[in-house]
Formats: sequence, C-alpha cells, structure tokens
Amino acid sequence: MSRIAHRGRFAHMLGDPTGTGAEHAIADFADGGLLVQNGKIIACDHWQNLNPDPDTWQIIHHENALILPGFVDTHIHYPQTDIIGGFGENLLDWLDVYAFPVEQKIGADAQYAKETAKFFVDECLRNGTTSALVFGTVHKHSVTALFEAALARNMRLIAGKVLMDRNAPENLCETLDEARADTLELIDTWQGKARLGYAITPRFAPTSTVEQLQDAGRMLREHPQVLLHTHLSENLDEIALVLKLFPDCKDYLQVYEQAELLTNRSVFAHGVHLSPSERERLANAGASIAFCPTSNLFLGSGLFDLRACRAAGVNVGLGTDIGAGTRFSMLATQAEAYKIGQLKQAVLHPFEALYLATLGGAKALHIDGFVGNFAPGKEADFVVLDLAATPLLARRLREVSSICDLLFALSILGDDRTTKETWVAGVRAFV
Ligand code: GUN
Ligand code: ZN
Repeated sequence: MSRIAHRGRFAHMLGDPTGTGAEHAIADFADGGLLVQNGKIIACDHWQNLNPDPDTWQIIHHENALILPGFVDTHIHYPQTDIIGGFGENLLDWLDVYAFPVEQKIGADAQYAKETAKFFVDECLRNGTTSALVFGTVHKHSVTALFEAALARNMRLIAGKVLMDRNAPENLCETLDEARADTLELIDTWQGKARLGYAITPRFAPTSTVEQLQDAGRMLREHPQVLLHTHLSENLDEIALVLKLFPDCKDYLQVYEQAELLTNRSVFAHGVHLSPSERERLANAGASIAFCPTSNLFLGSGLFDLRACRAAGVNVGLGTDIGAGTRFSMLATQAEAYKIGQLKQAVLHPFEALYLATLGGAKALHIDGFVGNFAPGKEADFVVLDLAATPLLARRLREVSSICDLLFALSILGDDRTTKETWVAGVRAFV
C-alpha cells in the first residue's frame, strides 16, 4: 500500500466560478495537505486538519510551491509538435504548407511517429499537463504510438485517428471502409484501457464528404463511451468554404448537426466566429468548445467570445492547439486567454482561468469524475509549481500573498520552467 501526504500550498476549483461566484468556487490552503493512497485522493485540507501519522504516511513537504490539479488540454495535435512557429500563413494555407506535410511524414515513418509521441507526452508532463484530447493523423500507427507512450506514463489521455476523404493530399485521404475499420480497431484496443479513451476525429467539415461525416455519427452512436473531436468556425475563409461545400446548410454547425455529430460528448475546437444561434444549439446539446488562444492569435483567426459562449451556457475548456498554437504551457495559454479578454472588454478572472484549465476542461472531456480537482476519490494528478522558478518570478512574488494575485502572476510569467514536478495517479512522472 502506498500512502503519501503532500504538504504545501494547494488551490483547486470546487465548481464553475461563473455559477457560484469566484470566491466560493475555489479552495485555497496556504499550509495545506493532500493525502494520496494508492494513487487516489483521500483528502485535501488545511495541514492541521489532516495531521497524518508519520509512522503510516510518507510525508513530502513542497516548499515555496503552489500545487494545482494537473492541467487538462482540451485540444492539441501531437503530430504537429515539430511545426510550431511556421511563418506567415493563415489557417487554410498553413494546413497545406505546414500541417499536411508533417502528417505525411508521420504516415511514412512509424519510427518518427513513435519518437514524436514520446517527446509529446513528456513535453505535456514537463508543462504540468496530465490530461489531453489529442489529434493523431489519419494513420492508425500514429494513434497507436501515442496511446503506447501515454500508457507507459499512465496518463489519462483521449485521442483519435483523423478522418479525411477529400480536399487533402491523396495519401492523407481514405475510403469510408478503411477509415471505419481502423477507427473500430483502435476503439476496440484502446477505449477504457488503463486511463485512455478514444475520440472519433473527423478533421473538419471541408476534408470530409457528407457520407464520411454521417459514418462518424454512426460510429459515435455505436460507441456511447467515446468522444467526438473536430474543429468548428475557426477562420472566416474556412467558414466561407464550408458554406460553399455544403450549400444546403445555413451555417457551419448545421453540417455537424445533420451528421448527428452535435452531442454532449462532442468537443469542437475554436468556435471563434459562432452566431448566437450556433451558441444556443451547442449549449442545448451539452457540447463543449476548446478555446485555443495562442493558436487563434498566431493564425490571426480572431478573438474568441468567451463571455458570449459562457453566457449562452456552452461548456468551455482551454486548448493549446499545438502546432498552430505556440505553447504547450497551459499557464501561458491562460495568459493569452486573458489578453483576448482584455481586447474584448471582458476580463478573465484568474479563478475562471484556472477552472478552464482544470475542472472545466475535465468536464468537457467527461473525465471530471476522475480528475480536474482534489475531491476525495479522484485520481491524484497534480502539478507542483516552483514559485522561485526564475529570478524575476521570485522577485515578482515577494509581495504577493492572495491566491488570486498568485495565480494571475503565475499565468503571466509562468511557463515550462515553472513546473517543478508533475504527478500522475499518485506517481511522480516529471521532476
Ligand atoms: N482545422 C482543420 N485542421 C486544423 C489543424 O490542424 N489545426 C487548426 N488550428 N485548425 C484546423
Ligand atoms: Zn486544431
């Protein structure tokens, strides 16, 4: 039996701060403790309330640190790790110039896929990200490589092979039968294995025929445990293309609705240019949006309206969208989300930013029963942030004591250097 009592400063979200009011939604223990038994959380509280017996508990004291639940990245492409920072293009050209070629390389070289997958999961852990919803490529071996790497680190990770059958290079397109056979085999092998899950992953409307989208809807209905993961309304040229390709649809979301892909298990990346009607339909379905600020700024896609989405009742999580996104760090991603809020005269409160990066993201991925905060019974995924990670951070934090100011300064100045340790299901996975 493994019993570890972690001592230090802890903060985690108890619920959605927009519902309950920010102050009630956070729990903050300046001298706190997290009791972890066999990888599961027994309690998170003030240290004096826990007072574990050192004869039966291994005690680890994390000094000058803030311990948060592991971050949940709700949208990321592992094959695009090596193309971050591709110069000079907007979405549709960026796909042709940068994304498709690297995905072809993953397809042609299984060894490269394996090596990229290992680097990718380690880079997630180095940034304190313990769960993610991940795009592979169309190739089955790309997803196998990722699941194997995540399994070796016991991460709670959800991924899927991309579905494309048009408007992409020929060797990235498949027939319906090939796509279905590979998808079903991957679901069969990986869904529910250890902490892994599967997401049916049509890339986006322009690269699938109606028939392929409908088949994705069929597979989703046949497998009620899996998620649906795709892109929606990221870029104005993309939206114009969708309306040209699907002339019967009044808007982008209707393309997915017609294929029965709009469900409470659906996660749509971006949603930058949604109409009020689309937001309402997303909310009614219980679907989620992955807000990817570094990507939206990098590709010049636009400024996501977080307020409008949340006010309409849409679930929202944060995503990095590597490789159009520019940072693996969910702290840096929170900072860019804040700046977009500033430009939209809608300030993102640090507690809401933490919610989006942890519990809100976990809800979007339907893994909030397992992770997302330090509720008893959940799996002990957490990140230990070093409050003296850089000389500047140490200096900036000298006068900071409130959890609000601390979280905010960490998001603005923090990055991978801020991660001291990452723990996965009670085990130290990065140090
Ligand atoms: N839309 C369709 N494919 C992609 C992709 O790979 N990255 C981004 N950012 N948007 C997409
Ligand atoms: Zn994406």
